[in-house]
Amino acid sequence: MRSDPNYGEAVALNVEFFKAARFPVSYFGWLIFRAPRIRRNRAQILELGDLPFPRWQKAILETLSGFESRIPQMLQPIRQELIRGLEGLMKIKKEPIVVLSFGCGGMELERQVIYELVRRRFNFPIIFVGVDYSAAVPDVLATKFASLVSKGIVQLKTISHLGVDDLRRLKNEAASHRFSVVLLNTNAFDLKDLPENSFNLIYHTRLRHHLTAEESNQLDELATHLTTKVIELDDLFSIPAFVLASIFAWRFPAVLSGAIFSYLRDFSKKELLAQEANGWTLATFSNPVWCHLRVYDKAVTKG
Ligand SMILES: C[S@@+](CC[C@H](N)C(=O)[O-])C[C@H]1O[C@@H](n2cnc3c(N)ncnc32)[C@H](O)[C@@H]1O
Repeated sequence: MRSDPNYGEAVALNVEFFKAARFPVSYFGWLIFRAPRIRRNRAQILELGDLPFPRWQKAILETLSGFESRIPQMLQPIRQELIRGLEGLMKIKKEPIVVLSFGCGGMELERQVIYELVRRRFNFPIIFVGVDYSAAVPDVLATKFASLVSKGIVQLKTISHLGVDDLRRLKNEAASHRFSVVLLNTNAFDLKDLPENSFNLIYHTRLRHHLTAEESNQLDELATHLTTKVIELDDLFSIPAFVLASIFAWRFPAVLSGAIFSYLRDFSKKELLAQEANGWTLATFSNPVWCHLRVYDKAVTKG
C-alpha cells in the first residue's frame, strides 16, 4: 500500500510510529519532536482503523468500545444529553422515535442508553439507526448485542440502504418492540437524499476527527438537514491526554497508535470556539478524558 496514492503517506506514518514505539526512549523522542510537526499537517494522518483492513478495524472498534464500557465517563456527557432528548421526545411522539448515529462503530453508547432506559422503565418504541461503512461493524455488533437480543430486549438488523420507504417500513416493524438497533452499513453521506427532518435526533461520537475539513462541514450540513437536534461528542486536543494514553495503552500498540493519532487530529478548544456557528452550543469536559459536546438545536436558530 506504500505506493497507493490514497494511503501511501499514511502507511509510512503508521510504520514510522510502530518502529518508534518499539522502545520507550524512541517513542518519547517521537512524541516530543516528531508529533508536533505531524499535527501541523494533520490532514495527512490516517489511523490504522481508517486503513482498509477489517481485522484491524474490528480489533480497534472492540477495544475502543471496551474502554467506553469500562470507563463510562468517556460517554457520560452525550449519554445524559441523549437520554434527556429521548425522554422529551417520548412525551410528544405518537409513532416510534427514530434516532441516527453517524460513524456508530461498536454502538457502546446505544448499549449503555438501552440499559439505562430499561432501568428507568422507559416504555416507548425507539429505533437506533447506526451508520458506519466499516466491514468490521456487523460482527462487532452481533457480539455486543447478543445478550440483549437473546433476552428479547433488542431487535438487531443490518441493512445497506435507507430510503423513505425503508424508513417507513422500519417504523412499522418497530412499533411492537421497545428497542430496535439497525446498522446501516454504508457511507454517512449516502443519506443526503433523504427528506428534511427524517430523524428525531442525530448524534455522533469520536467521528469528527476522522473527517477532512470539507467533510466536517458537510456532516454538519447533512445532520442539520436531517433533524432538528444534533449532539456531537469528540475528544479535545490536550497534552495530558497524550501522557495518559501512553501509560495506559503502552502494552496495546494498535490502540496506542489509534489514541495518539486521534489526539493529534483532534480540535483544540480554541479551534472549536473559532468555528462556532448559529444554533450550535459548545461545552467542554475534562473528567477523566478531555472531550467536548457540541449541540445544535434548530429551535435556537429560528428563535
Ligand atoms: C473512532 S470510530 C468511533 C466509533 C463510535 N462512534 C465510538 O465512539 O465508539 C469512528 C467510526 O466512524 C466510521 N466512519 C468514519 N467515516 C465515516 C463515514 N463517512 N461514513 C460512515 N462511517 C464512517 C469508521 O468506520 C469508524 O467505525
